[in-house]
Amino acid sequence: MSKKPIILGIETSCDETAASIITENDQGIPVILSNIVSSQIDVHKEFGGVVPELAARAHLNKIDWIVQKAIDESGFKADKIDAIASTAGPGLIVCLSVGLSFGKSFASAMNIPFISVNHLEGHALSPKLNSKLDYPYLLLLISGGHSQYLSVKGIGNYKRLGTTIDDALGEAFDKTAKLLGVEFPGGPQIEVLAEKGDQNKYLLPKPIFNKGGCNLSFAGLKTAVLKISKNIKTEKDKFDIAASFQRTILEIMYKKTKNAFAEYEKNNLKNKTFVVAGGVAANKKIRSMLIKLCDENNFKSVFPPINLCGDNAAMIAMVGLEKFKMRQFDNLDYPAKPRWPLDESAAFLKGAGVKL
Ligand SMILES: Nc1ncnc2c1ncn2[C@@H]1O[C@H](COP(=O)(O)OP(=O)(O)OP(=O)(O)O)[C@@H](O)[C@H]1O
Ligand SMILES: [Mg+2]
Repeated sequence: MSKKPIILGIETSCDETAASIITENDQGIPVILSNIVSSQIDVHKEFGGVVPELAARAHLNKIDWIVQKAIDESGFKADKIDAIASTAGPGLIVCLSVGLSFGKSFASAMNIPFISVNHLEGHALSPKLNSKLDYPYLLLLISGGHSQYLSVKGIGNYKRLGTTIDDALGEAFDKTAKLLGVEFPGGPQIEVLAEKGDQNKYLLPKPIFNKGGCNLSFAGLKTAVLKISKNIKTEKDKFDIAASFQRTILEIMYKKTKNAFAEYEKNNLKNKTFVVAGGVAANKKIRSMLIKLCDENNFKSVFPPINLCGDNAAMIAMVGLEKFKMRQFDNLDYPAKPRWPLDESAAFLKGAGVKL
């Protein structure tokens, strides 16, 4: 039996400092040996959002013991690690630089390969951890900074089928939460508040619902919530807004995902597998709606476990593992890339005047 690769992943693109060790079993299934995530919620809470300079300092303060903890919990000594994979983008440059520099220095000191990882590719491959998933597949990436449908044909091989032309879905949840007075980071709380509300109380807009294929838009929705939220008098009003907002999102995502299925099949991709990843994939209502839609359209639905939906380093190590097996290593002068789309050939589709 040949030795299985042991990969260290490091993630510092935004406000989570994370390190993880993974390997694979005899069946070639990736296995997580340790997965340490340290969130900076307390650092940024009073500012209502992530402050880049404070985030970078917090990464610097914690990165060495987070990596040490990941190594200790893996049960392996540092000299057994075969390669180091660090997030190189997209993200906040001051934050990316911390994990990237740490990973490069570690790789150099241990004389092992260094691998740069696209954070979004980490989300895209996160369902491969602990399970078997073959290419190609249709991916819906719904996170704090991105909302895209992509066909995934292999590592580094993405075709964007649709994208948001303004806010990301996670951003829409976060902004709605802020308008309802929920403390940062409020997105996940909308799901909780919505449980207690009347989802038919407010009729909210569904931007580009009947045009634009599987492109998405959420900015108009946020503006509508802003107007209604000025008249909040009781807690029940908040619950009703949260429920109505979430119902509207479900309707938008149902329709747009159907359009994405058609786009994917038009591209002659026969493997009908639909993968949903990113922080918003943790939302149970969105999950169950998408599972139902997949059943109706003969797609197999795949979600990462809830704890791997948000930012983590196991997904970064996952990309590292695939690149390691393909001998795709990077030089130690690899730059941090604040903007790094998965499909670099896709047109920039944001802002006023976008033609769909
Ligand atoms: N249960 C939930 N319902 C809705 N949104 C959620 C839920 N849980 C997390 N989110 C949202 O997911 C987002 C965080 O996801 P993630 O960590 O993947 O994003 P990010 O790393 O900030 O952005 P990106 O990956 O695009 O750079 C936040 O916007 C958060 O509100
Ligand atoms: Mg993320």
